[in-house]
Amino acid sequence: MNALLNRSQKLLAESEKHPSALLLELCGLLQAEVPHYDWVGFYFRNGNKEELKLGPYVGDPTDHTIIPFGKGICGQVAVSNSNFVVPDVKAQDNYIACSIHVKAEIVVPIFVGGENIGQIDIDSETADPFTDADIELLEGVAAAVATLLESQGISDPAAEL
Ligand code: SME
Repeated sequence: MNALLNRSQKLLAESEKHPSALLLELCGLLQAEVPHYDWVGFYFRNGNKEELKLGPYVGDPTDHTIIPFGKGICGQVAVSNSNFVVPDVKAQDNYIACSIHVKAEIVVPIFVGGENIGQIDIDSETADPFTDADIELLEGVAAAVATLLESQGISDPAAEL
């Protein structure tokens, strides 16, 4: 996974491309390289509203383009500021299903200037697939995304990406 983090960081440093194109490519890279990543996407805090807005993603289209804070796995991470690893989505009461094929989910927040501005969300069709290696990879990717947003002066990614 270290090599993949390295590739992700390099991809995000391709400064001639628009950040939204880079984030979409990053989703594609992660999905292609990790067999248990089936849907890979970003949600960002929607301006000053207490909700998340869907950003770039790869995988099946989702109806959940807006998620209120507190709702589902994503909405819970928006308020907890902590990673959320769900080995079995059926065991979660506060879960928003996007596809009947999804068995597990991991959400890792993205911090810019100490503020939780969004998250990486991954759905898996494999049961209980996530390990510390996924957390390490995705925390590294989240940090690289934060660096990109800061360096490009993107303060409202939900509006700009
Ligand atoms: N399952 C998420 C909703 C987003 S989809 O996975 C794309 C949740 O419970 O917040």
